[in-house]
Amino acid sequence: MLHICKSYTDILRISMKKTANYFLSQKGERRLTMLTAYDYHTACAIDEAGIDMILVGDSLGNVMLGYENTLAVTVDDMIHHGKAVCRGARNAFVVVDMPFMSYQTSIYDAVKNAGRIMKETNCQAVKLEGGAGYADRVHAIVEAGIPVVGHVGLTPQSFNTLGGYKVQGKTAQAAQQLLDDARALEAAGAFAVTLECVPEALARKITEQVSALTIGIGAGKYCDAQVLVYQDMLGYADGFTPKFVKKYANLHDTMLEAFHHYKEECESGAFPAKEHTFSIDEDVLEKLY
Ligand code: KIV
Repeated sequence: MLHICKSYTDILRISMKKTANYFLSQKGERRLTMLTAYDYHTACAIDEAGIDMILVGDSLGNVMLGYENTLAVTVDDMIHHGKAVCRGARNAFVVVDMPFMSYQTSIYDAVKNAGRIMKETNCQAVKLEGGAGYADRVHAIVEAGIPVVGHVGLTPQSFNTLGGYKVQGKTAQAAQQLLDDARALEAAGAFAVTLECVPEALARKITEQVSALTIGIGAGKYCDAQVLVYQDMLGYADGFTPKFVKKYANLHDTMLEAFHHYKEECESGAFPAKEHTFSIDEDVLEKLY
């Protein structure tokens, strides 16, 4: 392996990365952490905080690109943002979402697009939405050597068929389907399954019944890992906050205050001040004609 490494730093960088198998070995041992990121500096900060995994979610359609939903996000969008995150994530395990219609169409498309995402971003795994109906895609991607995270419950790419963004698995039939989906994904080789907007007691049952990791978002505290969209937990945007989000900061207000202050100081002439300004010798100026 060593001959392909460019430098000692590269060797260190590779050796510090945890693997999907390592995270699986942590099931029941400790609670794992994941946050989304879509850019280099956020990835650096999340990594520095020691968060285990970073998800480059297709939620970037909403929170970075201003779309109403995730359907317009492309494989190229995911690769563009995934590359930036992977450059910043020295230790954190990076998972990149497969966007709408990059795997639904065929097993061939699923493997081809998962391969492109992994080769071009340098991520460690891909995530795709859907249960037992997508087990064949998951199996084929894993067979190709790419670790896969599944995603069941509220799957935003299917909001048109789900009838909106609602809690899933509330009836006996729907709850059984979710458990069966998680089992099918695990049998297909997914090392983890995201549970989104699932009642806590059901998420607990699924977590106990599968040996894959469960990654919860709006699924309560018994999941093996938690994930949140970083803009939500930082209070970055003004507006609706889902019930399952805890705001750990209020960056929207902090940003707004700074932007107002900057505007005032530019307008009054207080900024830029002497210390923000470059000087030039007077005699140089005098030579100008
Ligand atoms: O796209 C995303 O950010 C996600 C999380 C909500 C799990 O899939």
